[in-house]
Amino acid sequence: MKKLFLAAFTSVIVISACKTSKETAKTETAVVKPPMDCSTSGVNYEAIRSIIEKNCTSCHGYEGADGLNFLTSADVKKAALKGELLGTIKHQRGFPRMPAKAEQLDQADIDKIECWINNGMKD
Ligand code: HEC
Repeated sequence: MKKLFLAAFTSVIVISACKTSKETAKTETAVVKPPMDCSTSGVNYEAIRSIIEKNCTSCHGYEGADGLNFLTSADVKKAALKGELLGTIKHQRGFPRMPAKAEQLDQADIDKIECWINNGMKD
């Protein structure tokens, strides 16, 4: 009888110990942001065109705010090569925050644009 109790008691401890370590692991994965993986994303300009057209061309269209228009991939490439594209959308120090007068882009959209640049700014 004493042995049976001991066995049951031990298994309760083992089971609850397992549960705790699993839960800890889960919390850790949720907190750590995985590094951005652009290798399989195959982002070309078509994949980011709608982000630019929705958020940027109202000012950087034919009006060319700040002398910049983003009507073609070549226009956007120019800004990317100067570091201005990422600087402005990531709100880095030293750059005006874009899109002006609006919320910062979603992180997923910023990541997509960064992948387009990292993948060689394909059309
Ligand atoms: C509401 C109008 C407006 C929108 C929308 C807008 N911009 Fe701008 N942008 C401006 C103005 C005005 C400037 C000139 C700098 C300033 O006054 O802040 C500028 C400047 C820039 C510059 C030059 C920065 C520098 O260092 O000189 C870049 C690059 C830029 N914008 C990118 C973008 C991108 C990318 C988007 C979309 C995500 C965007 N802008 C959306 C108005 C806008």
